[in-house]
Amino acid sequence: MKELKIQPIKNGTVIDHIPSGMALKVLRIIGIDEKGVDSTVSVAMHVPSKGTGWKDIVKVEDRELDPKEVDKISLISPSATINIIRNYEVAEKHKVQLPKVIKGIVKCANPSCITNLNEPVETMFTIKSKSPLKLRCHYCDRELEDVVEHII
Ligand code: CTP
Ligand code: ZN
Repeated sequence: MKELKIQPIKNGTVIDHIPSGMALKVLRIIGIDEKGVDSTVSVAMHVPSKGTGWKDIVKVEDRELDPKEVDKISLISPSATINIIRNYEVAEKHKVQLPKVIKGIVKCANPSCITNLNEPVETMFTIKSKSPLKLRCHYCDRELEDVVEHII
């Protein structure tokens, strides 16, 4: 029998298979913080995952994510799945995918990079390595290792 740790939702988004310990970062990315929320949000941390291991789950009711939020989640949690729930059914299921070019969601660590000089230039990175995740700035070539700390 299926064990339900948190209630199923009627409509909204379930971000599943988040690596254990990363749920709070996902909440920050989708704009949930101490300023309060305008949708019902439930969080399950350190729940057993199929097979071995542990995962976190975030459920946001009556809201779908925008593509930038999904790309940010792919940076911290390449294994996550995004489930769109409509009328209690899983209407769509997507595995997040690391984009080939990362635009406008990560800040360059180089203070003299053009993207940090108040010019109207959106940040842009290519993937240098996936595991561990390392990016390279398209403009100044600076390599970025602590990607999660630089999510905008
Ligand atoms: N879910 C939910 N409310 C619903 C339907 C599903 O909160 N009305 C949640 C489930 O609890 C699960 C996720 O959405 O965390 C995906 O549901 P489902 O595809 O049914 O689960 P699995 O088959 O276990 O998913 P996967 O194969 O991606 O592990
Ligand atoms: Zn740069």
